[in-house]
Amino acid sequence: MNRRKFITTSAAAGASTFAGTLILPRFAQAQKGANEKMNMALIGVWGRGEAHYGALSQENVVALCDVNEARFPNALKKFPNAKTYVDWRECLNHKDLDAVVICTTDFTHSLIANWALNRNLHVYCEKPLAITVSEARILRENWLKKKGKLATQVGMQRHEMENFNRVRELVRDGAIGELTDAYAWGNRQIRRAGYLPAEGTPPPELHYDLWLGPAPDHPYNPGYFSGGSGANCLQWNMFWDFGAGQIGDMGSHTMDLLWNAVDAKVPTSASATGEKFNPDVTPVECESHFEHPANDWRGPLRVSWYQGGLMPGSPKGYVDLKKIDHGAMFKGTKGHIVAEFGSRILLPFGDGADLTYYKPRTKETLLPPLGGFFKQWTDACRNPSLKTACDFEYSANMIEQMLLGLVAYRAGKKIEYDGATGRVTNVPEANEFLSRKYREGWTING
Ligand SMILES: NC(=O)c1ccc[n+]([C@@H]2O[C@H](COP(=O)([O-])OP(=O)(O)OC[C@H]3O[C@@H](n4cnc5c(N)ncnc54)[C@H](O)[C@@H]3O)[C@@H](O)[C@H]2O)c1
Repeated sequence: MNRRKFITTSAAAGASTFAGTLILPRFAQAQKGANEKMNMALIGVWGRGEAHYGALSQENVVALCDVNEARFPNALKKFPNAKTYVDWRECLNHKDLDAVVICTTDFTHSLIANWALNRNLHVYCEKPLAITVSEARILRENWLKKKGKLATQVGMQRHEMENFNRVRELVRDGAIGELTDAYAWGNRQIRRAGYLPAEGTPPPELHYDLWLGPAPDHPYNPGYFSGGSGANCLQWNMFWDFGAGQIGDMGSHTMDLLWNAVDAKVPTSASATGEKFNPDVTPVECESHFEHPANDWRGPLRVSWYQGGLMPGSPKGYVDLKKIDHGAMFKGTKGHIVAEFGSRILLPFGDGADLTYYKPRTKETLLPPLGGFFKQWTDACRNPSLKTACDFEYSANMIEQMLLGLVAYRAGKKIEYDGATGRVTNVPEANEFLSRKYREGWTING
């Protein structure tokens, strides 16, 4: 093959370059046998990364990446043979990688995940998959081209709880008649005034410029790093440049409980209201409403998301929804279902709501348990024809909807959305909120 043909062919197959090195895609490596360990990279080794140590120790962790070198000694105790990196772009070029687990900041997820897909790596990415609409679309499109060859999963691990299936069955099987509306809410309230002022200098082990990565420049302040393991995300995720606020935080988990039961894709409209707009900080109080077209088993659907203490109305005065911090509710022609992650109540009401139209499933016809959420992904890495619950199609659709709520909030108007082109059709100025500008030198497509 001559050089020109080689480069053309490689580019078409998704090859890319980094620091002058041509990276070739390797689907061939992807299928490891059931008893063969996969070569894994863990990016972001502390905090949420630690939660995956147990599952990862079943595999060959060959690369560890963190912008804070102080996090390595502990990780190396668990994975002593791994090579360490501070720049995820270099880590992704580690030889013979099969898969990557991404546990970094929300504003880096989509970039790392997309670069990993470009290298034909299986990807487990912590939620949220993206913090802009355009990123969600890029990830979905890239993965759909590789579906069946690569396994993807977004870290919405509550999805493995049996209650997710039970709620889906009740809705799908008509326990509340025809589904018309669905609501989810989360009442976590993290109030920030604005980006933190410059304070001190980064400790020598912290590569602050790499931490900022694609985000616009903000001065160092130790406050962004002052949280405990697995909760430090709450120190930065409310700022527009670093996260999507409650939507990326508990919103991802809670909307998942709803999303699993409604089979929606991308909405045709979004509207949102909330507290006064702050250019630095995402809103605490906000509610967003979305319209979804009918699908093959239900009519048009209205979906709503409430955060920061705002709540949907209770179906009956004696049900106090506020007692559920993070919950979902489904309204149908014959009643309501109210759910939290692990339990649910069915509230049939109205004339004729006698449940004769609803046949509970037998043990044999219940939706099968998902098993371990992380294991579902590693099983699919070994056999990518297997489905994962929160793959990059399901998860991108869900976060695209949620992020459109923030677009409508910023535009201050109801937006009509064309899911085919990814454009707001009635409020042209809202289109600028669909994407963000990366700092010079950073790209989502590397
Ligand atoms: N699924 C869940 O239930 C759950 C729970 C908590 C957090 N999370 C998610 O996990 C992610 C991490 O949250 P956290 O609280 O552990 O955050 P964190 O700020 O503690 O970061 C985790 C680790 O990643 C490292 N890191 C940050 N940016 C990096 C980069 N660009 N490259 C390499 N390493 C980098 C940090 O130094 C740290 O060691 C967030 O996206 C959060 O939404 C998910």
